[in-house]
Amino acid sequence: MSDSRVIIFDTTLRDGEQAPGFSMNTVEKLEMARQLARLQVDVIEAGFPISSDEDFEATREVAKQVGTLEGAPAICGLSRVGLADIDRCWEAVRYARRPRIHTFVATSDLHLKYKLRKSRAEVLTAAVQAVRHARGYCADVEFSPEDASRSDFDYMCDVLSAVIDAGAQTVNIPDTVGYAVPQEWGERIARIRERVQGIDRVVLSVHCHNDLGQAVANSLTALLHGARQIECTVNGIGERAGNASLEEIVMALRTRRDFFGLETNVRTEEIFRASRLLSHITGVHVQPNKAVVGENAFAHEAGIHQDGVLKEKLTYEIMRPEDIGRPSNKLVLGKHSGRHALAARLKDLGFDLAGAELDRAFKKFKELADRKKEVYDEDLAAMVADEATQIPETYTLDYLHSISGTGLIPSATVRLVKDGQTFQDSGVGDGPVDAALAAIDAITGLKGRLLDYALRAATGGKDAIGEVSVKVEFDGTVVSGKGSSTDVIEASARAYLNALNRLAHPTGQKVKEIGP
Ligand code: KIV
Ligand code: ZN
Repeated sequence: MSDSRVIIFDTTLRDGEQAPGFSMNTVEKLEMARQLARLQVDVIEAGFPISSDEDFEATREVAKQVGTLEGAPAICGLSRVGLADIDRCWEAVRYARRPRIHTFVATSDLHLKYKLRKSRAEVLTAAVQAVRHARGYCADVEFSPEDASRSDFDYMCDVLSAVIDAGAQTVNIPDTVGYAVPQEWGERIARIRERVQGIDRVVLSVHCHNDLGQAVANSLTALLHGARQIECTVNGIGERAGNASLEEIVMALRTRRDFFGLETNVRTEEIFRASRLLSHITGVHVQPNKAVVGENAFAHEAGIHQDGVLKEKLTYEIMRPEDIGRPSNKLVLGKHSGRHALAARLKDLGFDLAGAELDRAFKKFKELADRKKEVYDEDLAAMVADEATQIPETYTLDYLHSISGTGLIPSATVRLVKDGQTFQDSGVGDGPVDAALAAIDAITGLKGRLLDYALRAATGGKDAIGEVSVKVEFDGTVVSGKGSSTDVIEASARAYLNALNRLAHPTGQKVKEIGP
């Protein structure tokens, strides 16, 4: 690999997914992994297999279904240094064409004393044994000294030299708590390159958290000092304030190639779709002013800017929306468009549907085109992304009627179908959404507690599709759900039912408890 090539290691499905509110089931992780493969990241860290059976299954399925594709990214699993952890990790990633085991242990005195209760010598020995054990399974082994930014420098370098000697091919330096600042971090990376034996034989990587808002700056500075792998996530999701954002790193390297002189293998035209798919799956939308993928990232409001852009885009635009595959929001299809035209447009948007999937999408499209005057790319994306991450439906919405208004007690009647049988009930509430959900509870006999509710319009216009994301607690289990419709009460009921269906479907829930 040329010295100017930067390896993009995506950890959206591991570090990103482990943050509260971002959990994904196997179907969702697979959908996201397929998009990461289209994006052409080099490595997908798909999960932490020992952390739960669901994580194991999801990592294994990503390895089997995405990691075996022609030209697929390497599929990586995370593992502590315990040998049983490494065995479990290998069991999950072994199906990929290019499996990777990523093993880590903390090296800061703070973590050794309070978390691990181990001496420096014990940790060094465990790290070496883990890397040797992992090398018994595959050549592609990565090691991370957790909390590197607060570790004693000489001790951390001794650990790195030892794991390289034991066969690690990548050493990754994490700023686990987002404590580093760019200049100091860059110097640390440069000193590691001078001090660690064998460092020239391996890939030097960084993994930066964003607690002080420096994750991207720290990652880019590390590149200037010789790092050649960046660990990052789509939309910058991750523990606490998140990880370094993939789209910001990739677009900074592309837009400022004159300065960095570095390149990645990422197909930047897939960035926007990856960002939106992740938001759709998790129900968490990026802030409007988020660099590169935010709603306003390419919007010019000030008159003087608009004037400049109309005369010559370069006056205020350093990137073009099409560079990241941002749809132009143009009117694409109408009520009379056929199945063929829909399939072709969906393909352009990255959804390659055929057979029964296309039939379902076409039916939905016709219903949508009947209700909505204009159908935009974003409507189509919202419509089929729902379909793509669908889980088996225990309950299906058959009918919904709600009444509300000033001075009225809001009420709703709902009819659901379960196992071919129809059930109907009604409810009242402090608003039509509350009433519809109460009617659903009356049918299912389960009382859900709505912990979070978000409504967003997929496009502009009064007739826009409303996308609802909910988080609901059913008897101690928290599940999320999504639903969309031009009618926001229906979208809310669909999101709530989606959460109920996830509850009934085993891959829909996750319980993660993992110690040091
Ligand atoms: O932040 C961190 O230290 C990590 C490691 C497991 C690489 O996520
Ligand atoms: Zn991390």
